[in-house]
Amino acid sequence: MREQLYSLKEQALTDLQPQDSLQAINDWKVKYLGKKGELTAILRGMGALSAEERPVVGQLVNDVRDALELAYGEKEAEFKKAERNKRLAEEAIDVSLPGRAISVGSEHPLNQLIRDIEDIFLGLGFTVVEGPEVEYDYFNFEAMNVPKNHPARDMQDTFYITEELLMRTQTSPVQARVMGAKSAEARANGQEHPDPIRIISPGRVYRRDDDDATHSHAFMQIEGLVVDRNIRMSDLKGTLLTFARQIFGESVQVRLRPSYFPFTEPSTEVDATCHNCGGTGCRTCKGTGWIEILGAGMVHPSVLELAGYDPTVFSGFAFGMGVERTAMRRYGIEDIRGFYQNDVRLMQNFKSRM
Ligand code: DAH
Repeated sequence: MREQLYSLKEQALTDLQPQDSLQAINDWKVKYLGKKGELTAILRGMGALSAEERPVVGQLVNDVRDALELAYGEKEAEFKKAERNKRLAEEAIDVSLPGRAISVGSEHPLNQLIRDIEDIFLGLGFTVVEGPEVEYDYFNFEAMNVPKNHPARDMQDTFYITEELLMRTQTSPVQARVMGAKSAEARANGQEHPDPIRIISPGRVYRRDDDDATHSHAFMQIEGLVVDRNIRMSDLKGTLLTFARQIFGESVQVRLRPSYFPFTEPSTEVDATCHNCGGTGCRTCKGTGWIEILGAGMVHPSVLELAGYDPTVFSGFAFGMGVERTAMRRYGIEDIRGFYQNDVRLMQNFKSRM
């Protein structure tokens, strides 16, 4: 039995040497040390031994098992180390390689322009307020002096949610909302008259329009409203001249042309000298030297009165401009759809100011 053990040990160790993978040495372990392995088989024969021999052989079996397990352990460690080194080599990072550039976005040109315009009016003492895009028929039309069935509604057909609720066609309803809120506040405070107002209100508006190079069913406007005692048309002109010079250049002139809006009286179309030719006449301004920049006028007495401002005490002016049109002019963009398509190639031109 001793010989059997010695030769098993010899044989097992010799057999282990050439094994070249974790899988192979595991098979080896099963073969020699496993439950059905060769060492176990020898152990089973121990019952036949004498009482004196049994502990001696038992010790020997343990020694052989230890020796085989040790040899196995060393081999296993070798393979595990090799495997780990291999993985580390594969996962190595070359820190000297150049990094991948992160592409940095930019503020949308329409928002850049709105922010510039806000800055100009903040400098003139205006505050910026916003109104809802889903608006009551009342604020969008009736409070703006466009009763139901008024022909002016034809120019501003829109998307209706219900009879009385629609996607606003203009930012003008913010005028009625702000005046209404101020006069309610004054009543609550027991003031005889509401406070004066100086606000602009940027935001999106909607119209039932076919989309083409110069039209979109959704676009942006900026509304302006000033209400106080003794507000005159010269205040309107001076304010808009200051605005136009800041946005288009110091040499710009403005002129007022008579026009019609239901919520202003008198109403005017405001032109600025053409940014392209400086007023001499070119293709951009169709030879006139002037370009229309916005609609404006003196707030209609009915609009003041409906919102709780006494038109015999207060007067005001209002204006509304299209943001896309102003941006197209400012940046030389010819198709309005460019603003909405999120084409990075176009947007990349507006990175300068983040
Ligand atoms: N709301 C008008 C529009 O969408 C623009 C406008 C014109 C606004 C004159 C005004 C104004 O406040 O006074 O066509």
